[in-house]
Amino acid sequence: MTVTLDQLDDRQLAKQISAFGAEMPYRKAPYNSRAWGNSLHSLCSYQGKLKPSIAYWLVSTFTQPGDLIMDPLAGVGTIPFEAALLGRRSIANDLSPLAATVSKAKVAPPTLSEALAAVDGLADAMSEVRLSKSDQDAADFGLNATVRDYYHPDTLDEVLKARRVFLEGKLTAVGADFVWASLLHVLHGNRPYALSRTSHPITPFSPKGPFEYRGVIDRTRTRIERALATPLPAEFVPGRGIHGDFRQLPSAVDDLAQVDAIITSPPFLGMRFDRPNWLRLWFCGWTAEDFHVRSLGFLERQQTKSFDYYKDFYDVSAKLLRPDGLLVIHVGSGTKDRLVDGLRDLGTSQFRLVGETVEDVAALERHGLTDKGSRTTSHHLLFFRRD
Ligand SMILES: C[S@@+](CC[C@H](N)C(=O)[O-])C[C@H]1O[C@@H](n2cnc3c(N)ncnc32)[C@H](O)[C@@H]1O
Repeated sequence: MTVTLDQLDDRQLAKQISAFGAEMPYRKAPYNSRAWGNSLHSLCSYQGKLKPSIAYWLVSTFTQPGDLIMDPLAGVGTIPFEAALLGRRSIANDLSPLAATVSKAKVAPPTLSEALAAVDGLADAMSEVRLSKSDQDAADFGLNATVRDYYHPDTLDEVLKARRVFLEGKLTAVGADFVWASLLHVLHGNRPYALSRTSHPITPFSPKGPFEYRGVIDRTRTRIERALATPLPAEFVPGRGIHGDFRQLPSAVDDLAQVDAIITSPPFLGMRFDRPNWLRLWFCGWTAEDFHVRSLGFLERQQTKSFDYYKDFYDVSAKLLRPDGLLVIHVGSGTKDRLVDGLRDLGTSQFRLVGETVEDVAALERHGLTDKGSRTTSHHLLFFRRD
């Protein structure tokens, strides 16, 4: 007979956590392969994305089918998407318009015919756009090279038209988020699938090579067809994606005190998500000022000043979780930065710390096998329970 989490007291749950920490199932084959997991996990590249196998093991070990799982700092939705694949209800939230667009697309993907109709809708909407001087001026922005340096002039005009449709919210068809996530993925890369000259798929490094015309609609459609080629499992439960500050979640959802588990991975110390994602954020409307000012509203910048910003995080989590609900925090730590200590101390004022696992990743870091913060030497999982 399967024992559900609800039936475990804290001591039994602590035993389960320590067995999980000793076994680290996500480090064993086939879960240790970078390629493991549903192909939609890679819908759009994102610096700082969690390994899907960690999400899979956390969700499958510590939650039940039908549970409501939330990630208030969801990035591109790895944890909520894995929850949806495993038959859990899920809510993904992120303040970044890029991350939120991609996670919305993943937790509630359209059918192929809906997505292809939406891409036709994008083509129609783009044909209505007359580019203005301010559209063209926007292409002079850039962090290592300008946007203009990335594209053949005719591709650039199409990118600017698509961007205007995005910013004006003109694409309302079912599957619109999926179209945007697919387009955001092909915005830059190192192979012909990408719209840009040769760059890098995760971080847009200064582009090289010839300026070749690559059509936005054609490349986006190809991406969609590939992304939706594998059917989702029958257990898949579509989830909900939200774009906003986690602090607004209690007013954005109707599920106060009903969330069974919050599973999340806050920014590691020293990471930023705006600069490595600058070209995709530019597409989503970010200007130079946003990289300087708007980014200050994100935890990755706030936590360099004080860990106390996480008090808000715990307050919000306490409002959303049901009594005895689980809060799991995946966080990296270096030898000097002790974000994990700050998070553990702050959490225990409102939650019961039931267990913790520690994974030494110094060797993985040395071999460049991780995409997490470069100073990280260990990964921690903090398991709290709501009083
Ligand atoms: C380490 S990443 C999460 C990665 C995620 N697990 C994934 O697999 O994609 C942390 C996320 O926190 C988000 N974030 C930072 N401050 C936030 C805030 N105030 N409200 C909501 N999200 C925020 C960042 O935009 C970033 O995507």
